[in-house]
Amino acid sequence: MVSSLLWAVTALLGLAPFVHSIPQAASPTTVVSPASGTGTTTATASIACNNSPDLCSRAYNNITHMGAHDSSFLRDASTGNSLAGNQFFNATVALSAGIRLLQAQVHEYNGTLHLCHSSCTLLDAGRLDAWLSRIRFWMDANPNDVVTVLLVNADNTPMSTFGAHFEASGISKYGYTPLSAAPPPTWPTLQQLITANTRLITFLASGTPSPAHPYLLNQFTYVFETPFDVRSLAGFNCTLDRPSSLRTTGAASAIQAGLLPLVNHFAYTVITGDITVPNVGDIETTNSPATSAQGALGLHAQTCQAQWGVKPVFVLVDFYDRGPSVATADRMNGIVQAVGRRGAPGTTTSSEGRGLGEGRGLALVGFVVAAVVLL
Ligand SMILES: *[C@@H]1O[C@H](CO)[C@@H](O)[C@H](O)[C@H]1NC(C)=O
Ligand SMILES: *[C@@H]1O[C@H](CO)[C@@H](O)[C@H](O)[C@H]1NC(C)=O
Ligand SMILES: *[C@@H]1O[C@H](CO)[C@@H](O)[C@H](O)[C@H]1NC(C)=O
Ligand SMILES: *[C@@H]1O[C@H](CO)[C@@H](O)[C@H](O)[C@H]1NC(C)=O
Repeated sequence: MVSSLLWAVTALLGLAPFVHSIPQAASPTTVVSPASGTGTTTATASIACNNSPDLCSRAYNNITHMGAHDSSFLRDASTGNSLAGNQFFNATVALSAGIRLLQAQVHEYNGTLHLCHSSCTLLDAGRLDAWLSRIRFWMDANPNDVVTVLLVNADNTPMSTFGAHFEASGISKYGYTPLSAAPPPTWPTLQQLITANTRLITFLASGTPSPAHPYLLNQFTYVFETPFDVRSLAGFNCTLDRPSSLRTTGAASAIQAGLLPLVNHFAYTVITGDITVPNVGDIETTNSPATSAQGALGLHAQTCQAQWGVKPVFVLVDFYDRGPSVATADRMNGIVQAVGRRGAPGTTTSSEGRGLGEGRGLALVGFVVAAVVLL
């Protein structure tokens, strides 16, 4: 167990050049021209869209997009294995492994926008525009993939400031703007988004839309979500929590109005009082595709689908590589054999950590910190 964790850390360090130099592996029937120096690519017939040919003709809102919660906040060597970290692997490694929704928090810091976890003194993952440009590079190299970004606007910064970061990073060229400012009854198919090369759907959790940056969408105009502060595996449910204005009418009526459902499926462990950290000790259960175990992702997704009559469109998890979480999205999407994924090391060690109590989980993290120092 310890050796496989060590292996995962070692492999991640070794993976770096590999991840960036090779475009996403294509399916046998796929013909994708290599990315040119300018990032211009051409896709031709029989392509997989978001890891499956079956998804090309599917509407964006008829797909479960598996998401990495706090995708920029890492529990890895770069943060000294910070206990505040929610993911073992970064956002572009996550995209290569099949994650298609990246969530993060944005704060004003040092005169610009930074990705910070709760506060920039706790965990500062750097400038927003730098992070967006790494995602843009990934999208340049993967022209048949539709990516969704969901950002918490922690300091209520005007959307135009976000727009400046989207433009500086070059990712704004992929921004999708819906035809109306109200939730559409149906969304384009993945193929339509790919053909138009408007492959980036962006939601900000708060803010007034900026006419100059119409691709920055207010999350709660289009999306509702389940509770996000869950502290026990028994606490997951399918109740509409936000937008709070829709709590009295609830999920069924939000779906009727065309809002897309987002399932928050991550748990915190209380350290003391109100201090909580992402629960890694139970992560194999939390992210499991099983539909029988209490707290399992598979069960939560299935339960919400049954209650709502539609599948969850977005799901957010911590430590996405465990489970692995994409197995649940594949089940929701009816995908038997996804193509073109390059898994993070953790996906091959899915039994790791199973049955660990939180105390031992934290102890193991401590061990990995020590191991990384020795490497
Ligand atoms: C993730 O890590 C790889 C390898 O170090 C790097 O090339 C890539 O830019 C990183 N992506 C993000 C979003 O930080
Ligand atoms: C969603 O996709 C499934 C699988 O292709 C299809 O059977 C179903 O009719 C679609 N639902 C809608 C509302 O388009
Ligand atoms: C703050 O910004 C300046 C330049 O804009 C940069 O040199 C410095 O490294 C930044 N500090 C932090 C903590 O990001
Ligand atoms: C769902 O969880 C929230 C937060 O814990 C709670 O307030 C709500 O009552 C729960 N819903 C149901 C139907 O139990």
